[in-house]
Amino acid sequence: MVRTGIMGTGSALPEKVITNFDLEKLVDTSDKWITERTGIKERRQAAPNETTSSLSVLAARKALDMAGITPQDLDLIICSTISPDMPLPATASIIQRELGAGPCCAFDLAAACSGFLFGITVVDQFVKTGKAKHALVIGAELLSRYLDYQDRATCVIFGDGVAASILGPSNSGSGVLASEVHTNGTFADHLYIPAGGTARPASSETILAGDHYIKMRGNELFKVAVRSLEEVSRRVLEQGGATPEQVDLFIPHQANQRITEAVRERLGLPVEKTYSNISRIGNTSSASIPICLDECVRSGRIKKGDLILMSAFGAGVTWGSVLVRW
Ligand SMILES: CC(C)(COP(=O)(O)OP(=O)(O)OC[C@H]1O[C@@H](n2cnc3c(N)ncnc32)[C@H](O)[C@@H]1OP(=O)(O)O)[C@@H](O)C(=O)NCCC(=O)NCCS
Repeated sequence: MVRTGIMGTGSALPEKVITNFDLEKLVDTSDKWITERTGIKERRQAAPNETTSSLSVLAARKALDMAGITPQDLDLIICSTISPDMPLPATASIIQRELGAGPCCAFDLAAACSGFLFGITVVDQFVKTGKAKHALVIGAELLSRYLDYQDRATCVIFGDGVAASILGPSNSGSGVLASEVHTNGTFADHLYIPAGGTARPASSETILAGDHYIKMRGNELFKVAVRSLEEVSRRVLEQGGATPEQVDLFIPHQANQRITEAVRERLGLPVEKTYSNISRIGNTSSASIPICLDECVRSGRIKKGDLILMSAFGAGVTWGSVLVRW
């Protein structure tokens, strides 16, 4: 039976670190509040010359190296991002060009923090039907470009980062066992950027109002996130014929350490089987899970045969879960 396996991973983080103490100087907040309410101590911020595509190319090259393939081998590139280089063309086109890949299928996917899991789910269909042998899925966000550093509700949460995975057919029993992704637009205005699109094109008025920045109703999202993450994780485990006790590693989207703890407890998973890097990286939206995945693969935390559960929730709202046998 052919499954969609993960053959390589890579990530790229900007060098510049923004600590909670740095943010104390910009907004009315404190290291104590941010640490207690979110678990975040620091996050990265891209340099002016770095772009979503430039960091994506660095991460993709590392993933290609690990998979032992070249850009020319790629037949599918999905760039999951809500912070593209520019509205047009797709950032995936720029990545295709800069990697020197052939004329493969390349497109952007906008599903916010759940985007990497949406990407895996799309690739799974291409691989199972024989349409793709080597797919590159990137979670790439430079959210600092959309942050208002006078809005303490958002600027303490989000950070920049990129990570990539190479996927392809696997006959060894490893690969995606089950996946499920969802969207409910009822909560679309709980996390959004009001202007800069066709509804309200960028103008001096929208810039003055700060409507090109991310706005979030974090409190309302919190409850929806915990409930959705638990439900979808349970359903995907059931589809994959597994129980929570059999999970070797749970990689939740790094939105808030309190969300991670609540979902972990509801699923009955132990702390040591739950990965967290939010204190160092913050919330990097669609890059969050693939950064965790790359850290775990490279540090040896993930071993062959391990059962990995990845679950995400984000703007849209979107949510989903993917169960993988490594
Ligand atoms: C954003 C989030 C950290 C806020 O934490 P919270 O415990 O819900 O805090 P609240 O929004 O209820 O605010 C509590 C108080 O802290 C204040 N506050 C908010 N941000 C603050 C900050 N950065 N520093 C200090 N105080 C802050 C609020 O103004 C409020 O003050 P008040 O009680 O005087 O009105 C949390 O709601 C969260 O993580 N939500 C989910 C985000 C998410 O999942 N996003 C989508 C997926 S990526």
